[in-house]
Amino acid sequence: MTGLIAALDSADPQKALAWANQLAPHCGLLKLGLEFYLANGAAGVRLIDHRPIFLDLKLHDIPNTVAGAVRAVLPLAPAMLTLHAAGGGAMISAARAAADTAGSARPLLLAVTVLTSMDAETLHATGIAGGSRQQVLRLARLALEAGADGLVCSAHEVAMLRAALGPAPVLVVPGIRPDGSAAGDQSRVMTPREASQAGADWLVVGRPITTAADPGAAAGAIAAVLAA
Ligand code: C5P
Repeated sequence: MTGLIAALDSADPQKALAWANQLAPHCGLLKLGLEFYLANGAAGVRLIDHRPIFLDLKLHDIPNTVAGAVRAVLPLAPAMLTLHAAGGGAMISAARAAADTAGSARPLLLAVTVLTSMDAETLHATGIAGGSRQQVLRLARLALEAGADGLVCSAHEVAMLRAALGPAPVLVVPGIRPDGSAAGDQSRVMTPREASQAGADWLVVGRPITTAADPGAAAGAIAAVLAA
């Protein structure tokens, strides 16, 4: 079954904590990203005392530095941690070796391939020809071979990645919009049911939940769709 992850995207720790209290009963994980982490640091993550936590820090640096960053967050016991596949195989292997020092409590490492904000033209401007699907698949294979457990991908890539990579990689999918909710800055969206049917393991939902009049009810409704 596809699980629900709520994105607690705020720099305000009290707001994030209030959301966490409302949403934890409906979600498999709560996601804290760069906005929250840079404003509140490790102490902020400890304040959100619900577990499991997904730390979406999208690490991308030289292998030694990324390995150090992974070790630095292990005391926070994240269940999932993101890094950019474009950092290369050596960076991902170094991250995996660092994560492995936590033994069975290690976070799953999820690789971001091509940001969903990048279209073919933007990619081309960075020197990548051939379009995003080819680049997504290339980076996905590289990341999994180097030790990543799964991928963060667009709902529109899930079916292609499942067909190419099989059932093993954990596929985590943002850009989800329940029927009738505003797309915001997400350009290619899917409903929870569509993304689940395409083969997603986890859906990441932010604003459709956090801007709802009753965030707990909004999360509960999505969880009910996924459980049906
Ligand atoms: O508010 P919304 O549902 O668009 O939030 C989506 C969440 O997923 C945000 O926390 C965003 O940072 C994250 N994300 C994304 N696209 C990616 C990777 C992560 O929207 N490619």
